[in-house]
Amino acid sequence: MLSKTLLTRLFNIQYPIIQAPMSPLTTPELVANVSNAGGMGTIAAARMTGEQLRNEIHKIRTLTNKPFGVNVFIPPKDIEISSQAIESVRKQLKELVINKNLHNCNIDIASLPVKPNKDLFPEQIEVILNEKVSTLSFTFGYLPDNIINKCKQLNIRLIGTATTAKEAIFLKDIGCDAVCLQGSEAGGHRGSFLTSDIDTIEQSTIGLQSLLSQTTQFIDPTSYPLIAAGGIMDGYGLINALTSGASGVQMGTRFVTAHESAKLVPEAHRNLLLEAKNDVNKLYPTVLTRAYTGKPARGIRTAITDHFCPNENKNNVILPWQYQSQLVLPLCKFAAETKQTDFMQLWAGQNYARCENQSATAIIQQIIKEANDILQCKN
Ligand SMILES: Cc1cc2nc3c(=O)[nH]c(=O)nc-3n(C[C@H](O)[C@H](O)[C@H](O)COP(=O)(O)O)c2cc1C
Repeated sequence: MLSKTLLTRLFNIQYPIIQAPMSPLTTPELVANVSNAGGMGTIAAARMTGEQLRNEIHKIRTLTNKPFGVNVFIPPKDIEISSQAIESVRKQLKELVINKNLHNCNIDIASLPVKPNKDLFPEQIEVILNEKVSTLSFTFGYLPDNIINKCKQLNIRLIGTATTAKEAIFLKDIGCDAVCLQGSEAGGHRGSFLTSDIDTIEQSTIGLQSLLSQTTQFIDPTSYPLIAAGGIMDGYGLINALTSGASGVQMGTRFVTAHESAKLVPEAHRNLLLEAKNDVNKLYPTVLTRAYTGKPARGIRTAITDHFCPNENKNNVILPWQYQSQLVLPLCKFAAETKQTDFMQLWAGQNYARCENQSATAIIQQIIKEANDILQCKN
């Protein structure tokens, strides 16, 4: 039988499974049901205002009395962008819509506003501290000392996201209670933060197994909880991570097709993930791309990712994080409404073909049963 781990003890949960925060696809029902099933759900606060986050926390507290976490994006440093770069992306998108046939698209790309986003981080942190949530996880960087200290005073557990052993050591040293190691297989955005060199981030990504192995050379996994993320979809993935030094796993893609996610995940996205299960011809490649948001993230290859592929089109301009999305996402939203997948944003980890049409409770129960069967050599 699966035994307790450093992670289950730290978070006071039954099973070493964390539902990855998935902005903007995470519903309160998903968070609550994962926690009720013995794992730990996580709110993806990302672009929520303080008020939205507070409402979300309150809603989840009506659905569960078990621990759950809140995840935030560490804000970027101020970036200047030129109007020339904005116009270049507008031009590229206009051409793409015509050349790759985004049918019936009436979006006036020339008039889409591109402006700095409001920094929501301070109001999110205020709510997290006031509400004394049990866990705060973060990605794209690290929390400043004063916030770490306040969290420690309030007994709020901290999880940072690392994509290299060096980032993991950094996060442990600043006071994180656990570190989530994000392998290159992972769906969604890369949490890389110690380098801003895009070539390093895109070309030198480390697979989960190697990342665990490298990190445990420097951090003793028997005394510090490491959380494995990237491509973990079943009991084999869980056992593999546990036997490689992790104290638990953080799973995203598997929960994208959970019943509780259906109201936020476009149907065409959900179907693409589920159809790959029984038909290898529908198992499309995933790519690491900056096409949608300006920050590297993994999703299924589309006309948009092909166009903004740095290897193919070295000279194509991509706007930085928080700007590129202001021009691209309106097209993706229209494409999702009209089921034109080649223009959709289809976040998925490399192992997405193991998605199932199930509730969150069934997902957790199935993974735990598989893991226990493996331990008893039934499989
Ligand atoms: C749709 C989607 C959205 C994500 N959004 C976030 C997020 O808001 N914050 C975060 O820390 N990680 C986010 N991630 C990354 C996950 O935390 C995790 O690293 C990843 O899901 C693990 O790989 P897997 O998808 O193969 O399970 C997201 C992942 C996906 C698939």
